[in-house]
Amino acid sequence: MKEAGIDAKILELFRSGGGFVSGESLSRLLGLSRTAVWKHVKGLRAEGYLIEAVPAKGYRLVSSPNLLTPLSLTAGLDARRIGATVVCLKQTESTNTVAFKLAQEGAAEGTVVIADQQTAGKGRLGRVWLSPAGVNLYLSVVLRPAISPVAACQLTFLSVVAVARAIESCTALAPQIKWPNDILIGGKKVAGLLNEMNAETEKVNFVVLGIGVNLNMRLAQLDESVLRHPATSLLEAGGEEVDRLDFTRTLLKELDGLYHRFLTEGEGAIRAEWLERSAMRGRRVKVNCGEREFTGRVTGVDTFGALLVELTDGTLETVLSGDVALI
Ligand code: BTN
Repeated sequence: MKEAGIDAKILELFRSGGGFVSGESLSRLLGLSRTAVWKHVKGLRAEGYLIEAVPAKGYRLVSSPNLLTPLSLTAGLDARRIGATVVCLKQTESTNTVAFKLAQEGAAEGTVVIADQQTAGKGRLGRVWLSPAGVNLYLSVVLRPAISPVAACQLTFLSVVAVARAIESCTALAPQIKWPNDILIGGKKVAGLLNEMNAETEKVNFVVLGIGVNLNMRLAQLDESVLRHPATSLLEAGGEEVDRLDFTRTLLKELDGLYHRFLTEGEGAIRAEWLERSAMRGRRVKVNCGEREFTGRVTGVDTFGALLVELTDGTLETVLSGDVALI
């Protein structure tokens, strides 16, 4: 077992045991000497874990640091794919750029890159994604599904649904999805997703799912002049700070479960959930595709993620990309 794997296992044993776990049982379960166990406990303490040691009783985990580290993010998560490797950075240009580069160098499926701050966060359509330090979540995941490039758009469904579920599980807020991949609360954007792909004509080499969630940012931290749509954060919308570690662990778990479902059952059920949560279903919208603009009523999304809009004369438009606003 790798060193980090041992630390994760120790934390898991502490958590499952509840109270004290004896040094002897730790050493037996891990196949390590008592001295080696003690060294790991010291290492965990150095990372901010508060571990009590009482003679004749053993060790007890009192508290964990609220830091996003590979260990704190993955310990006890039992992920099938997503989170197999986690890279946590203090500051970077863009987690998507880092993840893309790692994927080009052969990073395994499920590799996750997280940064505390992005200096050049990328939004859709070449826009900027504001990424102040320490308050929000900036996360990218490398996936290597054996699907065609056209089907890769379906992955958007799963990241959007995973973020919506994580918000619901960590707050009392009711997120809504706005096509293609925005998440709104009370009509204001709280999260955005940017997928980037490396593919050949027939096959996807890898996809990077980029996820940005405004967790604890204050509106005063937003430069509203660079925003195209009104924005908010979970703190601003709900009035309570969100635990970044808890939120990120929840999101990784949701992503892992939904990705497994996507690979084993296809996108149908995930798309249905996407549609259920959509702020646009049945609503009248104005669509701007760059060269043309039109209005109509949203009837759904097709299997490749295109928005289906019925015009007043009954014609059905399939919108693959563009800006869509509720009327
Ligand atoms: C959008 O709504 O325009 C998409 C925003 C996507 C932002 C995330 S933050 C993590 C990842 N890294 C980036 O540079 N962008 C995505």
